[in-house]
Amino acid sequence: MKFLVIGNGGREHAIIWKLAQSPKVDKIYCTLGNAGISKQAEIINIKVDDFESLAKFATENKIDYTFVGPEVPLALGVVDYFTSKGLKIFGPSKKGALLEASKSFAKDFMQKYNVPTAAYHTFTDYNSAKQFLETEWEENKKVVVKADGLAAGKGVVMCQNRQEALAAIKNMMQDKSFGSAGDKIIFEQWLEGQETSVLVFVDGKHFSIMPAAQDHKRVYDGDKGLNTGGMGAYAPAPIATPELLKQVKEQVMPNIMNGLQKENIDYKGILYIGFMVDNGKPYVLEFNCRFGDPETQVILPLLETDLVDIVEHTINGTLNEIDIKWSKKSAVCVVLASGGYPEKYEKNIKIFGLDTVKEDEAIVFHAGTKKDEQGNVLTSGGRVLVLTAIADDIKSAIDKVYAVIPKVTFDKMHYRKDIAQRALKWINK
Ligand code: AMP
Ligand code: GLY
Repeated sequence: MKFLVIGNGGREHAIIWKLAQSPKVDKIYCTLGNAGISKQAEIINIKVDDFESLAKFATENKIDYTFVGPEVPLALGVVDYFTSKGLKIFGPSKKGALLEASKSFAKDFMQKYNVPTAAYHTFTDYNSAKQFLETEWEENKKVVVKADGLAAGKGVVMCQNRQEALAAIKNMMQDKSFGSAGDKIIFEQWLEGQETSVLVFVDGKHFSIMPAAQDHKRVYDGDKGLNTGGMGAYAPAPIATPELLKQVKEQVMPNIMNGLQKENIDYKGILYIGFMVDNGKPYVLEFNCRFGDPETQVILPLLETDLVDIVEHTINGTLNEIDIKWSKKSAVCVVLASGGYPEKYEKNIKIFGLDTVKEDEAIVFHAGTKKDEQGNVLTSGGRVLVLTAIADDIKSAIDKVYAVIPKVTFDKMHYRKDIAQRALKWINK
């Protein structure tokens, strides 16, 4: 079998790493890839939004399945395009991807189909939004302001009071900091609690829940500093207790599946549900229409079933026929980032020590890396590498990953030292 994987980050490296383990896979291509991916896949240079060239490549090279990593091509309709050409592709249709690409669409969907979520108000006009804050919002009440469209994880502003909310809507709606993504905004009730990500394989009719993960979005230890794409993750997350997962399986997911069918949404792929858990009750904060990054780097190493079988059953609508098996171990991953990230950072810095990490110590997933002509591996992005360690329990996985990190270095490298400590606190509370 031949696969084409779209995307070039740590998530895509993990997808390719897993696909490459399948005895069914002969060849993997990846657009646009990175230095790590180039060991397991042939890199091709087609932009992720150039559907015509991608489909032409898939046809000419007799690709069996295309796997879409990031949200942007899904939101632009790559699945609809490939399907119309008779090509098999893993991911939701453009309409399904709206669950991530439009927060107001997602909120309306949740409200309509009884999926628990924070109370909200949507506005398309700056003056009405401003008036609402000034007349109906208490001056010192916290509120979450969200840009409706895709904003690379930056479109959510946690506002401590009305003043901050006014500044946020001005930034989004008048100054257009996120372009058209901020033409519509949402005010959302600020929920308290612990977050967890539950990712689900969905085939249109059936679903299968993966081990819950927890991301660490802020750049510094103790959840300080700016939001990032994610600085580390672990799975399974103990906060997703068996009772919580039961609620997701028996209430939340059936309501979502019902909504997808009623709305005529052909959803085949991954539904990533970001939950806030308050007093044992899960509220949906967001949907993503794809694997998470870096959650994938802890989830896929725990998957025992052949990912190719899951891809096939998902696309065929037969997920009920396969028993997906997960390891009982724990995985922790830490992101090694460029100095300055998530703000301005330098690129093209030489990375040392990659070859010294042994397979049984950690899996080295590449995110923002490239090779120069001499074969040196250089940094080429904000999140550079993701190291994942697997062990019998979370504590041992934490110790294992932090023991191996000093082997890998590059100038101005930084990383969080407290990944998965929250899990230990939860277990010991
Ligand atoms: P989102 O992209 O919607 O998940 O938002 C990004 C992050 O903002 C989430 O992971 C939460 O940490 C935070 N957040 C979003 N919505 C809320 C909310 N209603 N209450 C509290 N925190 C929130
Ligand atoms: N790590 C969060 C995301 O992939 O959206």
